Amino acid sequence: MAYEVGKVRACYPALADGYAYLDGAAGTQLPESVISAIAGAYRAGMGNAGGAFPASDRAAAITQGCREAVADLLGGEPDGVILGPNMTTLTYRLAAALADTWQAGDEVVVSRLDHDANVRPWVQAARRAGAVVRWAEVDPATGELPAAQYTGLIGDRTRLVAFSAASNVIGTRPEVPAITAMARAAGALSYVDGVHATPHGPVDIGALGADFYATSAYKWSGPHIGIVIGDPALLGTLRPDKLVPSPDAVPERFELGTPAFADLAGVAAAVDHLAGLDGAAAGTRRERLLASMTAAERHEQDLFAVLLGGLDGMRHVTTYGKAVRRTATAYFTIAGMAPQAVAERMASRKVNVWSGHNYAWELTGALGIRESGSAVRAGLVHYNDESDVSRLLDAVGELG
Ligand SMILES: Cc1ncc(COP(=O)(O)O)c(C=O)c1O
Repeated sequence: MAYEVGKVRACYPALADGYAYLDGAAGTQLPESVISAIAGAYRAGMGNAGGAFPASDRAAAITQGCREAVADLLGGEPDGVILGPNMTTLTYRLAAALADTWQAGDEVVVSRLDHDANVRPWVQAARRAGAVVRWAEVDPATGELPAAQYTGLIGDRTRLVAFSAASNVIGTRPEVPAITAMARAAGALSYVDGVHATPHGPVDIGALGADFYATSAYKWSGPHIGIVIGDPALLGTLRPDKLVPSPDAVPERFELGTPAFADLAGVAAAVDHLAGLDGAAAGTRRERLLASMTAAERHEQDLFAVLLGGLDGMRHVTTYGKAVRRTATAYFTIAGMAPQAVAERMASRKVNVWSGHNYAWELTGALGIRESGSAVRAGLVHYNDESDVSRLLDAVGELG
């Protein structure tokens, strides 16, 4: 393993601006290779797909290359990769298509751990279909989403179980395979939100047992493109609303309108960048991705131990979430100070953090902090280093 964070950081022009970028959970910076791939796609001449000239062929090749790269990243099939503007839009689209197959009295299970993008689309689709919504609860003391509760939530009428592979605020990583196995045993489908999980370690949708897995490239050094991956055969059973002349093949039938072709070139470049994070990784792109993301996860977790230990050691700081398996994402409050004011203070120290519920609407409600401005989020990704952590800890320490 050869994880050299200095080399990783050197790939990112934006990191030279003097700020500590601890806002990766809201969106990551782009390496030069991704920026060049996007610019290069335009520079080469870009047509719409399906024409008789080379610029059109390039658009089609970019789209296919993007599907292949994402399939490598997630361990799925290129033909199962649905591309769109962001995860929220795609999840509403999948919810509408799936809800067309539901009957009144069917059941859907959602979780209070999740970002609202994996809650509200299902709740609203269920309401329209007359389906019943059941809620998986978070243990507020630990921040865990206990898998055992799903035995009481999933039954004969369950059609869909939606939950997150990692919380975007407290980082909790539920036991995804255990929950998807229970869904499958009951004949239900699972929809796993991998938006926060994907940048923080290797992903294998087969091992996770996810029927659908959603991610967003802008959380892992790519442009603003959302992705849902599923088994092409499963996708072929769904009939989403679409225009009459638009392609009916899978996965195109799920994709509305003309794609952002140049950004798709950037997504493939981002996957290639992730595959190279560990300079010693060898083999196929999939193998290099698994090795590199494992190395990146170790790097993040080592730094996170320092970050969390530092925060927990300050008397004026309260941290949220103590899950056994979690991403390198800290969520904390400072005694006597509103989270928004803390974020502003950090910004004055050139430390980028977020404050507020970050759309973890149900979770911040369950933790009882939503009405008071929730908390401050500082997250680590593959390009963060020790100086980012010490700058945060110094700035938070000044508030004691
Ligand atoms: C865990 C999680 N799920 C879903 C989303 C929504 O993703 P998008 O912005 O691609 O719609 C986010 C965005 O922050 C997220 O963190």
